[in-house]
Amino acid sequence: MTEVHMDLLFSRERIATEIARLAGRIDEEYAGREILLVSVLKGSLLFTADLLRALKTPAAVDFVRLASYGSDTQSSGIVEFRYNLETPIRNRDVIIVEDIVDSGYTLEALYNKLLMQEPRSLKICTLIDKRARREVAIEADYVGISMEDGFIVGYGLDFDEKYRQLADIYLVKPEETSLP
Ligand code: IMP
Ligand code: MG
Repeated sequence: MTEVHMDLLFSRERIATEIARLAGRIDEEYAGREILLVSVLKGSLLFTADLLRALKTPAAVDFVRLASYGSDTQSSGIVEFRYNLETPIRNRDVIIVEDIVDSGYTLEALYNKLLMQEPRSLKICTLIDKRARREVAIEADYVGISMEDGFIVGYGLDFDEKYRQLADIYLVKPEETSLP
């Protein structure tokens, strides 16, 4: 099924270990409270499901759908809201659950939009923090794995809607993605 060349980068075991660690930190910091996870579709699908199962803190979940990518591998900087929250977040303890932060445009747009709805607290949890191409000053509060650069697929992350179903995360060869 492999149509582009890819190398294993983060194994399912590594991902599970980092998620257990993140859930542990969140459980500690939100002890005695209830949280609302705002999952950013579609890439965070698997991460959200696994994080949710690893948390002991009572957690509700809702979804937003944002897009700043076509089939390209670089952010356009224009973030489109395609699907919004159903849950009122005023006075709630909210954690945004992202698959990956790259330029930061997507997260910044969502963060500011949610902040205007006056949650009690608003934090960001990302599975992957890709550092090299950050263009806005936004930092996740909870980071699973940091990496410098490179286009990755698997565990929810896609390339042109493919490979989300892979259980591990793979690095795609640059010449196959039109990366600079
Ligand atoms: P940003 O707005 O540039 O931070 O882009 C964030 C979004 O771009 C993520 O939520 C992903 O959907 C997508 N993205 C960024 N880097 C990658 C990657 O390496 N693989 C797959 N999707 C990515
Ligand atoms: Mg995403």
